[in-house]
Amino acid sequence: MYLGEGYHAKILLAEKDSSKRESLRSILSSAGFDVVVVKEEIYNEFKKEKPDVVLIGFELEKETRIEAFEKIREEKEKEGIPVLAILEEGESEEVVLKEGLDDCLAPPFLPQSVVRRVSLYVRMRNLEEEVRNAKKVLLQVAQTIEMKEGYPREHPQRVAKVATDIGQLLELERDDILSLQTGALFHDIGKIGVSENILRKPGKLTPNEFEEVKLHPVIGERLLRPFGILEGGLPAIRHHHERWDGTGYPDGLSGEEIPLIARIVSVADAFVAFTSDRPYRKAFSRGEVLSILVGGAGSYWDPMVIWALLKIIPK
Ligand SMILES: [Fe+2]
Repeated sequence: MYLGEGYHAKILLAEKDSSKRESLRSILSSAGFDVVVVKEEIYNEFKKEKPDVVLIGFELEKETRIEAFEKIREEKEKEGIPVLAILEEGESEEVVLKEGLDDCLAPPFLPQSVVRRVSLYVRMRNLEEEVRNAKKVLLQVAQTIEMKEGYPREHPQRVAKVATDIGQLLELERDDILSLQTGALFHDIGKIGVSENILRKPGKLTPNEFEEVKLHPVIGERLLRPFGILEGGLPAIRHHHERWDGTGYPDGLSGEEIPLIARIVSVADAFVAFTSDRPYRKAFSRGEVLSILVGGAGSYWDPMVIWALLKIIPK
């Protein structure tokens, strides 16, 4: 039998019907999958076994199934674990969409097609894991750059948190929030090419030094473009130094020409920078920060985003 790329992957099989359960278990085990069978307590087994793919039988009580899926959903999304329904005879695949599952296995459960479909999802899970690992490495690079500049290690995550809060207040769609987070985490990754002397310089930069710094949004965009999964964040990386009045860089965009996620990252980055200690100065007071940001609304920053920031920061 064809051994998919999911060989050695762990499958959590939650199925009440014993003949269907045994048939699927046998098909998947013969193909080399490590199959964990569960009849109840699905969530506990999910937590314990950390499967690569979950198969949920639709003969389980509806409440049991929905409750298990609700509990699994958060980790499923965080870890990219596919959940497939095992359909009953004559059941429509629509149920899969309705319940937010990824896909289904439908009778008559032909071994080749069961193995092929489960292998496909295992492969997808492995790819997602590789992407997550790549993101972890990139985040370490981003953190190292911020530390070179004298910020705390967690600076990118702080910018991402403020940006996310602003994005949610402005009711951005879920995909835009994800792009915003990517942009916020990696907005300064292009500074990898800027010398540490310039990054840590307390005083005003010379024109030549400033020209070097101005390259970082374009370098960052170019660096991350090959990571297709991060594509949504690229507009924020390229445009986080544009100014509302059109005097920023690299493209001199103004107003709503500047992508919204870039306008948000710009405000979040400024807020976090002003409220952080630097090697050559202490963090500004709350009053000073608000006065700088409100003073720059309409020239430096988008007034709507500054308004949103004022709403989300604690009184
Ligand atoms: Fe920057």
